[in-house]
Amino acid sequence: MTPQITLALSKGRIFDETLPLLAAAGIEVLEDPETSRKLILPTNRPDVRVVLVRATDVPTYVQYGGADIGVAGKDSLLEHGGQGMFRPLDLQIARCRVSVAVRADFDYAQAVRQGARLKVATKYTHIARQFFSAKGVHVDLIKLYGSMELAPLIGMADAIVDLVSTGNTLRANDLVEVEQIMDISSHLVVNQAALKLKQAPLKRIIDAFARAIAQD
Ligand code: PRP
Ligand code: MG
Repeated sequence: MTPQITLALSKGRIFDETLPLLAAAGIEVLEDPETSRKLILPTNRPDVRVVLVRATDVPTYVQYGGADIGVAGKDSLLEHGGQGMFRPLDLQIARCRVSVAVRADFDYAQAVRQGARLKVATKYTHIARQFFSAKGVHVDLIKLYGSMELAPLIGMADAIVDLVSTGNTLRANDLVEVEQIMDISSHLVVNQAALKLKQAPLKRIIDAFARAIAQD
């Protein structure tokens, strides 16, 4: 029997921007996650299925073999740690950056110069801790799971560390980007055991993705 390949994706940009790569591998997802409530989506290929998980959970599903392969943002991979998986390809999709942002009336440069202790709200505690410690800035991190932009507005934090794509969310909330920490894109991740046990079908998908990226 052909091995069943399970691919973990998250809804939104990662799903949308992975579709053309899947098409290049001859895989077409047969349901639209925006209209369906299903978490397991069939494809035109009986040996391939897609599971829909939260973006931050993709590395965990691949680590534990809940999925053989997945598409995860570099942000999610850094927060997770990347144990138990290979990362064969930077897919160069869902590009954005992780930045530090503050209220327009907060003098970040001065606070840093004066060695102030900063309260930083973020979902990205690993990335933030590493960044500020390398800079020698003392921070108290406040872990949030979304809508980080609110924290400085209501005085709960001095700064946020969050993803910036168009910058519209920052502008709409009178926040300004004061540091760009790193560029982000999505990577293909593969469960280490699956790559041995299901080598041929996984390699076909990886190679098709690699060819599709090289054409862009
Ligand atoms: C993401 C991110 C920023 C925004 C950036 O939030 O956390 O808030 O998008 O995009 P922009 O620069 O194009 O405005 P998302 O909408 O995913 O919601 P969440 O943070 O509440 O999860
Ligand atoms: Mg947000």
